[in-house]
Amino acid sequence: MYIPRQLALAAHLLTTSLLYAQPAAANVEKTIFVAPPREPVPAESPDFDDLGLERLSPEEFKLRVNLNASFPTQQLPHGTESWFFLEDLNPGQRYEVRVCWLATQPTAFTLDTYSLSETLSNQELLSSLAKFSETLLTSAPSKSLLKASNDKDYLYPPKTPASETESVLFLRILAAADYYTSNSTLMESVQPVKADIILDPFLLNVFPRSLVPTVIYVLPVAVVVYFIATYIAKTLSVAVTAAIDCQDGDGGSKVKNQKEVKKDR
Ligand SMILES: *[C@@H]1O[C@H](CO)[C@@H](O)[C@H](O)[C@H]1NC(C)=O
Ligand SMILES: *[C@@H]1O[C@H](CO)[C@@H](O)[C@H](O)[C@H]1NC(C)=O
Repeated sequence: MYIPRQLALAAHLLTTSLLYAQPAAANVEKTIFVAPPREPVPAESPDFDDLGLERLSPEEFKLRVNLNASFPTQQLPHGTESWFFLEDLNPGQRYEVRVCWLATQPTAFTLDTYSLSETLSNQELLSSLAKFSETLLTSAPSKSLLKASNDKDYLYPPKTPASETESVLFLRILAAADYYTSNSTLMESVQPVKADIILDPFLLNVFPRSLVPTVIYVLPVAVVVYFIATYIAKTLSVAVTAAIDCQDGDGGSKVKNQKEVKKDR
């Protein structure tokens, strides 16, 4: 039947809009990827351990950071680069990484993930990563002070030394300022963007884990909406059938009338 399908669609729209209604005040950019096969991680190599990158894993899945941003230039058309390390991934599983930031700091983010071998074999990526790491390490002392006062593990989260093989990825975030203002201070130097970086595994490779609480909340609502919709559909279809029957009678006579009019001409 035609009408119940429309109502079902309405119910569907209602529930999906509920799903997306929550993070209204923040902007989100994300990338979806499948975790790579295990690769030997050179844990003992000082080059690798001393990168000083902040890490994300399915257990430590959220970071609050200040990302440096800049207006697009010829050399950096997508803005300033920041690098992070994703570890303890489950090979073959789908994940997404999201960056959430306040709408009051208009920024265009570009997110990319690179496997270990990809990064190490690409000169451009490697030099960008090295440059970022160097900046981190030279500013490390001041950040360690910040860490002490903040009692948050900021730069070097305690981590058991990675062994043998692991599924890991480098995450590169490009941040380009995306605003125009008459405030010349803000046009000359872009403020760092306060952002949350979230690593979200997909359950059964279909469904982001962080959506589960929302679904648990929405599901009973959807069931109730379904039953109400079915009831309305039944009532409506009875009414519509009656109306059509009624019209058929009327319409028939109208057509006859018109024919008669034509004959008269
Ligand atoms: C971010 O920008 C500030 C100010 O320009 C600079 O001191 C700092 O080293 C930058 N941080 C990174 C990680 O590039
Ligand atoms: C420009 O922006 C900066 C940083 O938000 C602020 O401190 C300053 O007061 C602003 N200047 C003017 C003229 O509004």
